[in-house]
Amino acid sequence: MSSKPTSSSPVKSTGLHVGAIKPGVAKKDPILVADHVRRQFGGLVAVDVEHVEIPRNAITALIGPNGAGKTTFFNLLTGFDQPNEGKWSFNGKSLANVSAYRVARRGLIRTFQLTKALGLLTVMDNMKLGSTEQSGEKLSASLFPLIWKKKEKEIEEKALEILQRFKLDTKKDDFAASLSGGQRKLLEMARALMTDPELVMLDEPMAGVNPALTESLLEHILGLKAQGMTVLFVEHDMHMVRHIADWVIVMAEGKVVAEGAPNEVMKNPAVIDAYLGSHQDIDLGTVTGRITLPKISKEK
Ligand SMILES: Nc1ncnc2c1ncn2[C@@H]1O[C@H](COP(=O)(O)OP(=O)(O)OP(=O)(O)O)[C@@H](O)[C@H]1O
Ligand SMILES: [Mg+2]
Repeated sequence: MSSKPTSSSPVKSTGLHVGAIKPGVAKKDPILVADHVRRQFGGLVAVDVEHVEIPRNAITALIGPNGAGKTTFFNLLTGFDQPNEGKWSFNGKSLANVSAYRVARRGLIRTFQLTKALGLLTVMDNMKLGSTEQSGEKLSASLFPLIWKKKEKEIEEKALEILQRFKLDTKKDDFAASLSGGQRKLLEMARALMTDPELVMLDEPMAGVNPALTESLLEHILGLKAQGMTVLFVEHDMHMVRHIADWVIVMAEGKVVAEGAPNEVMKNPAVIDAYLGSHQDIDLGTVTGRITLPKISKEK
């Protein structure tokens, strides 16, 4: 990927799937594959995904109405919740029954719909926690303090480099609580990068973000792909989805009901039904209207 993507003209990845497009369609190079993943809360089946594959080094949007099971599915895939049944693998290795911190160590990291930045820690400490909470190096720290000091310096340098990219370096000594909602979202994304993930799962990265920061968040998400990472993000704003997603997966009532390239999937009656019931004349782009982006021409 030589050309530098910008949010005004993102470079779209195409040819990601194999065969006819349908829910659960195979991908040429899937980074994550899930089968029969079901999670029930009492009588409510929150997630019931028969089969889904996430394409590598692309940006996939997971969309669907409120309560469709998107966050629950994220929780299951990343070890924050356990399914009643099902299996899923990341880079060909099973992740079922793998704890959240081990999932992160394998290269799959997620952010939360409600930001989990720790307000009473500084921005830098939040970043360091992103690294150490997943490395389990307490033992070596107590046995070899010098090695640990060197390691800590490396972690700090890495944190600073990422914070610079996110233009948060001048705030490194501020409490996270003093940041705006949008800056906290940026911090959460920055923190996720401390573990050098391969797959970054973002649960509503734009929610509550001031329009002034929207552009910058979009650039960062596109930047992750340009650096070779895979992104799976949940988003309600169809303008944003259309703008940056290479592939869209639609969930409704716990199931995957449609998949496809953004412009195609938005025309799918199952998607329009899931969102709007019978009001099929409404443009999906107006569902939230939270951000306005330049309309892009149809991707190749
Ligand atoms: N811990 C829980 N206990 C009981 N029910 C739950 C729990 N978590 C989620 N649910 C229910 O499961 C369903 C799916 O919820 P989920 O949060 O996954 O949806 P979502 O697609 O992320 O929605 P939104 O777009 O509003 O974030 C909802 O009906 C929700 O009320
Ligand atoms: Mg959710």
